[in-house]
Parts: sequence; structure tokens; C-alpha cells
Amino acid sequence: MAGRIPQSFIDDLIARADIVEVINARVPLKKKGREYTACCPFHNEKTPSFTVSEAKQFYHCFGCGAHGTAIGFLMEYEHLDFVDAIETLAAEYHLEVPREDAGDQSRRGPDQKQAMYDILERVSQLYQQQLRQSSKAIDYLKQRGLSGEIAKRYQLGYAPDGWHFLLENIDDKALNINKLKSSGLIIEKSPGKRYDRFRDRIMFPILDRRGRTIAFGGRVIDQGEPKYLNSPDTPVFHKGYELYGFYEARQAVRNLQRIVVVEGYMDVVALAQNGIEYAVATLGTATTSDQIQKLFRSVHEVIFCYDGDRAGQKAAWRALENTLPVLRDGLEARFLFLPEGEDPDSLVRAEGRDAFESRLNHAVPLSEFLFSHLLEDVDAGSMDGKARLANEAKPLLARIPESVFRDLMYQRLSELVGISQEKLQATRTAAETKAIHQPADLPAPTGKDVKQNATRDAIALMLQHPELATETDIPDAFATATIQGFPLLHELYRTIRENPAITSSALLERWRDKKEFAILQKLMQRNVFGTEEKADQVAVFGDAIQRLVMKYKDERFEILESRLKQGGLNETELEEYKSLLAR
Ligand code: UTP
Ligand code: MN
Repeated sequence: MAGRIPQSFIDDLIARADIVEVINARVPLKKKGREYTACCPFHNEKTPSFTVSEAKQFYHCFGCGAHGTAIGFLMEYEHLDFVDAIETLAAEYHLEVPREDAGDQSRRGPDQKQAMYDILERVSQLYQQQLRQSSKAIDYLKQRGLSGEIAKRYQLGYAPDGWHFLLENIDDKALNINKLKSSGLIIEKSPGKRYDRFRDRIMFPILDRRGRTIAFGGRVIDQGEPKYLNSPDTPVFHKGYELYGFYEARQAVRNLQRIVVVEGYMDVVALAQNGIEYAVATLGTATTSDQIQKLFRSVHEVIFCYDGDRAGQKAAWRALENTLPVLRDGLEARFLFLPEGEDPDSLVRAEGRDAFESRLNHAVPLSEFLFSHLLEDVDAGSMDGKARLANEAKPLLARIPESVFRDLMYQRLSELVGISQEKLQATRTAAETKAIHQPADLPAPTGKDVKQNATRDAIALMLQHPELATETDIPDAFATATIQGFPLLHELYRTIRENPAITSSALLERWRDKKEFAILQKLMQRNVFGTEEKADQVAVFGDAIQRLVMKYKDERFEILESRLKQGGLNETELEEYKSLLAR
């Protein structure tokens, strides 16, 4: 079985890939001076603040702060993990990803995942084949108004009755039992006692962003409990993150503009059957912020569609709360409540596409739903009511990112309660402060840590121009120095010395899983040189290192001096102290 991807291959691939090509294939770029720009794919904007530097092989958005290498872009834009991003990039350059011999367990992660994708795909094919042979299952789908074509598009299947269908129909049994178990397809109650999770059910495969089968939902035919059974979470499937039908929607609609979020698999499929091909469903859970964010990366309009009953109202409110933090100007979230007793499936079948789309077009904007819902329980005419309204609305509004939309929401609240907008925003409760607290950036440099900034300067120079480290020596003592940043500086230096041809972004990528990654990404964005001349750059870097050596010596001297006072130094330390004294 394949093992880990050799580091040298990753370095070479990153060196060969051009970030401008990689991004331009997904987000068309315009050349502007020395850089390339576009409207940022990670937030909604009308004027471009997303820039790609060919020289640095790094992208940065001045609007939302997104930044990273080509690998980072692929991970973010296509929701890939690191290994998937490497594979995607390699495929684009027609390179086969080599694998080292299988190592220890911890290195086996990606292969285990691949094995799961493979088995899930085989099982999905088996279920689809079973559907074609089962008149009972076919009749059921027909009776629910679905055509063979739609069943095929959604890869619907049938898990036949009986406890051991998969065990009997998957070959290389010994090899595959563990994969079936870890994919949640068979259950092992006690050692050796195994049975299929899905029996006598219509199967809805759940696909990921790339169209790979990662889980199933299974519906009983007609009556039975539970009505729907879902795969458990596995290494390739996380309920709160995936959406049923998202891949199919993006395949079906060329220029996807809006998405409808519904509650059931059947609703998604029935809507598609009736020509509304842009519906997705959550997987039997509340809609999470992750899911909403994922949707808003593809479209600017999301309509949440729920039953008109109490449960539907509650689910809609949860969705509203989880939408607030991802709302930016230009994004639109709306809510559609259906008549009692109806769901999108029953309704679209009864009234057809146009009537249903007309409902969608008249869905309630998030702002309206928010205020009308809060106003249901308060008397906005009374002073107490106004106070309550303000108290309930403020923490919600505070969750919205700074935007024209947020200002308008405060304005509306101000009108409703008769308190000025400034006052509403000036007095913040703890909950509001928490809600708007952004993750801490690098601490702002103060006058005191100018020296520390010298370290950062040196790191930034070396990170952006790794070749500098091949011409200047850095003392090994830095590796264990107690001064902030010195060990990191030395680690970068050592990595470059061991891989003299390494590129800037490959160097950065080696830190992806380490705690210093965020800082290095920031340093990658600094403008480090005012000069193009190689000789000047080498001199600047040499000076920076010299300053750090002096700093190191000062520190060392202080340490040795205090130890000398306390009890003494050994021979070599005394020598070191003397030489420092003479510096
Ligand atoms: P519904 O009960 O509303 O089902 O559940 P539905 O989509 O209208 O299905 P039909 O029309 O009866 O076939 C909505 C969603 O809730 C989850 C499933 O994801 C389902 O699609 N659910 C429901 C479960 O996970 N388990 C259940 O037992 C029921
Ligand atoms: Mn239904």
C-alpha cells in the first residue's frame, strides 16, 4: 500500500507550480503593475482587493485578510486537506505523486482515507445495480414521482433486505472488512458478529465537493422506523460540514446564482425532478456556520426553506443565528416558510416549478425575519418592551461583520426602540464583546520590542529569499537561545542549508502544521527590500544577522554575569565570559 509523499516531491512540485496559473484557472486574474488582481473569492466585493504576487508566489486579500501559497489557496478554495491539495496540484502538472513505503500508523492517514473512498464508491455502485433489479424499489421511487433519469443523476440505490448483503458481495473480504467497518457500512456488535447497517432501504449517496461518495442516507420503503438512517461520522464524513446535493447542483447549473436549503433528501431530489436543480439539504441536523460559509463561497444568495410549524420556525432561527457571522455586504440570506403540512417535495409536485419559484422569489429577507421574530414576544409600544427588544437584538447584530448591512440593522433597531444608533453600539454587553471579538492578530509592535522586530526582519528576509541563507552563516547557538524567535530563525536556516534549492513557498509549507505558521504567513507579506540588487540584499541580510549576533552576545553576557555572581562558572563559561567582556 502507498505511504507518505516524499518531502522532496512536495518541495519540487511547489517550486514548479506557478501560483498565478493555479489561481487564474479558478479565478481569472488581471495584471496590474507587478501583481495580479481579482475580486476576492473568499469574500464578496465589487472592487478587487485580492492580489497575487508572482515574485513571492503568495496571495493576499486586503479586504478580508485571506492569504497563502498556491497550496493554501487550493486548500481554502476547494476545501481540500493538504494531501488532497498536493494531489490536485500534481494532476494539473501531469505528475504522478510518489509514495514512500508505508510507515507507522500516523503516516497512514491519507491512504486510509483513499481506501474509504474506494470502498464507498464500490458499495454505491452495488446499491445502484440492486436498484435496477428491484421492482419494489423502482415502484416506490416511481410512486414518489421520480424518473429513472433523476435517480441516475443522484446515483440513488437500493440496499436489499438481509443482514449480509455487503459481506457476501464485496470480494477480497478479509482485506475489506475493516474498510467497511470504518466507513460505517457494516456494524460489528461483538467480534465476528457483523451485519449491514443499511437493509431494505432506498439509498441516497452523499457526495463531497469533488463528487466522491463519502456517506449514505437510507430511507425505509413505505413504513418503518427509523424513517431515515444515516452513515455515522467517519474520517471522510462530517455531518455538520457536508451538504446533500451540493455537488449535483454545481454540476447541473452552469452559473450557480442561488441555493435553496431544505430539510430532506427527498425534497432535494423532488425539486430537481421538477426543474429546480439548486437545492441542498443538511444531514438531519441544524444548519451550521460551516455549511453556510461553504454555500456563500459559491453563491451570493441562500434561501432557507422550512415548514411553517413551530419546529420549522425554530430550525430557521438556528440557521439565522449561524448565518449572521458569515454575512458580508453583497450576500443575501432569505427565509421561506411553507404552508403547514407541506414540504418542498409535496408542494412542488402539487403546484409545479413556476409557483414554487415564485414563492422563492418572495422569501423573507433575513433582516425582516430577525425583527419580526423578536417583535412577536415583546410589546414594542411599551418602555419595557423596547428595552427587551434592544437587549435581545444587540448580541445578534454584534455578530454581523462590519458592513453597510450591519449599520442598516442598527439603524432599524434604533428606530424601533428610540435610542440613537451611537448609544446602541456604545454600550456593549459582555456577550456582544465576545461576539465581535476577532481572533488576535500579531501583537502590535511597541517601542520596546524593536529588537525583537530585528529578529522578525531577519526571518522575513530569509523566508522570502531562502538563497540568502546559503551565503551567510548563522551561529548554531541560536538554536537553543532563549531569545524569542531565535530558534525559529535557526530552524529555517538549517532547513535551507539542508535543501539549498528550496523555494520560499515550499519552505513556508513545511511549517503548515506548526504553531509558527500564522506568523510566517504574515512575514511572507512584508516588503522586505527596497532594492533589486542581489549584492545589496546579501549585505542587508548580513547586517541583520550581525545585529542579532550582537543581541545574542548581550544576552549571553547578562546570563553569565548573573551566574558568576551567584556561584561561579566552569572553565569554558569563564572563557566565554572573558571574551564577551572584551567585545
Ligand atoms: P423528513 O421526515 O421531513 O423527511 O426528514 P422527508 O425528507 O420529507 O422524507 P419523506 O418525504 O418522508 O421521504 C427530513 C430529513 O431529516 C433527516 C433526514 O436527513 C431527512 O431527509 N431524518 C429524518 C433523519 O435523519 N432520520 C429520520 O428518522 C427522519
Ligand atoms: Mn417529505
